[in-house]
Amino acid sequence: MQEVKIRIRRSEPAVSNEVRYQEFTVPVGEGMVVLDAVHYIQNNIDPTLSVRWNCKAARCGSCSAEIDGMPKLMCKTRMDTLGKEITINPIKAYPVVKDLVTDVSHNYEIAKKIPPFTPKEGLKEPWTMMQIDVTRSKEFRTCIECFLCQDVCHVIREHQSNYFGPKHVVKIAALDLHPLDSIDRSELLHHDGGLGYCDITKCCQNVCPEEIRITDNAIIPEKERIVDHAYDPIGLLIKKVKRRKW
Ligand code: SF4
Ligand code: SF4
Ligand code: FES
Repeated sequence: MQEVKIRIRRSEPAVSNEVRYQEFTVPVGEGMVVLDAVHYIQNNIDPTLSVRWNCKAARCGSCSAEIDGMPKLMCKTRMDTLGKEITINPIKAYPVVKDLVTDVSHNYEIAKKIPPFTPKEGLKEPWTMMQIDVTRSKEFRTCIECFLCQDVCHVIREHQSNYFGPKHVVKIAALDLHPLDSIDRSELLHHDGGLGYCDITKCCQNVCPEEIRITDNAIIPEKERIVDHAYDPIGLLIKKVKRRKW
């Protein structure tokens, strides 16, 4: 059986400021993924190593990490696609709790700010939708909330509090594409959401394990929607006339 050297960043900020890389030698069998190797270390070498995971099937989005510098799911990254020496870091955009576990709760605070699906007034049940409308937003609904797109985004890394981030733009795009929804979230995304910070580098799109075309299909259309709603002079005039009480 082949052996691979794995370096893992170890730290526990609540206990000490110490940060170190610990090297482990792990036997690699056929079909092994990085999460298997981390479990081997936990079970056979160091049970104090912390990692977050749930499904081992690329569904729960819990096992995000940076493997050789690339944001990836540990349970979806096969060992035979990597070299003989591997480095695993926790995702960098969020504070470390311990070893490979980070505190991603900032995302839950953002999620609370996004108004949920709100059906148009007087809509009679059963609600009906065209298949094309279901299909258009289906891509966004495959998001597993792994936050890898948030991790790779340089705006989040540098100005976390000013930009909701790509994952949340995906959520808003899914709601905005719903033909029965009645809320305009473009102002929220423009101001609190800070979408103007995004310079459409597409890094988020390139790391999404669900292959959601985050920049092309969510971010760019939302930017266009903001321009339409916030800067289009004719649109503004129509809004003013609608708001005016005759
Ligand atoms: S396209 Fe925008 S959201 Fe995506 S990584 Fe680049 S700056 Fe961040
Ligand atoms: S959009 Fe993709 S990368 Fe971002 S949280 Fe969802 S699944 Fe993960
Ligand atoms: S363990 Fe669920 S996505 Fe990896």
